Amino acid sequence: MKILFFGDVVGNRGIASISSSLKKIKERYGACFCIVNGENAAGGFGLRYSDYRLLRDAGADCVTLGNHYNDHGFVEDYIEDTHALVRPCNTRYFDYGPGSIVFEVGGVTIRVTNVLGTAFMKEQVNSPMAALTDILDEGKADIHIVDYHAESTSEKATFAYLFDGRLSAVIGTHTHVQSNDARILPKGTAFMTDVGMCGNLESVIGYEPTSVINRIIFNGPTGVRIGEEGPLLINAVLLDINPETGRTESIRPIYWIDGEERVYG
Ligand SMILES: [Fe+2]
Ligand SMILES: [Fe+2]
Repeated sequence: MKILFFGDVVGNRGIASISSSLKKIKERYGACFCIVNGENAAGGFGLRYSDYRLLRDAGADCVTLGNHYNDHGFVEDYIEDTHALVRPCNTRYFDYGPGSIVFEVGGVTIRVTNVLGTAFMKEQVNSPMAALTDILDEGKADIHIVDYHAESTSEKATFAYLFDGRLSAVIGTHTHVQSNDARILPKGTAFMTDVGMCGNLESVIGYEPTSVINRIIFNGPTGVRIGEEGPLLINAVLLDINPETGRTESIRPIYWIDGEERVYG
């Protein structure tokens, strides 16, 4: 069973890239289920209901979040009324909505769990390992994919090896830079440190470069913003998972610009 996972959607340009390419990519690779990380869709920070709807209409079967899970208080207003929005399962002071959802596709159960990392992150969270163990104790699904949203590369790999053989895939998000380490671990769990982002290619992790320079280098008073034009980047990963075993049989990074597949270099 082929499943696509798309990296953090950044702003309206990220939504535009998903709207214009998701269905084409899904068809190209014969995927039957698409997961999209939407934590940066609302102008770069958070996810409004309108953004969630646009991602769903574009073909996202499941939308995950990250450290921007409730920026501006958007998500707490509507998450309880949705059926496909997953917030981090280990938030310490936020219990709106689910941190893990089981979907059913053609008789196969697919669990999607969102986890927030700890190293170099400011959010108040419970142990990712303990939170995931509790979810595993809740009950098994044929396929279980974890969106591990974290800054630290080694934290993501440590988590993946700890749960190798008990999850179908651990896909990292948050850095917005696609890593070159997609592989299947010895006991069958697919792992990739970071799937990357969807949005403006000519950007600093999705944000307009001059606005980032003014903010970071010159400590300017205005915030970062999303650029209005230029090539659109899609970063995703294609997983081929055996529903009988829950193991991933192949993992392939997807890197598209303006609706066409590109090769690194
Ligand atoms: Fe993030
Ligand atoms: Fe992000």
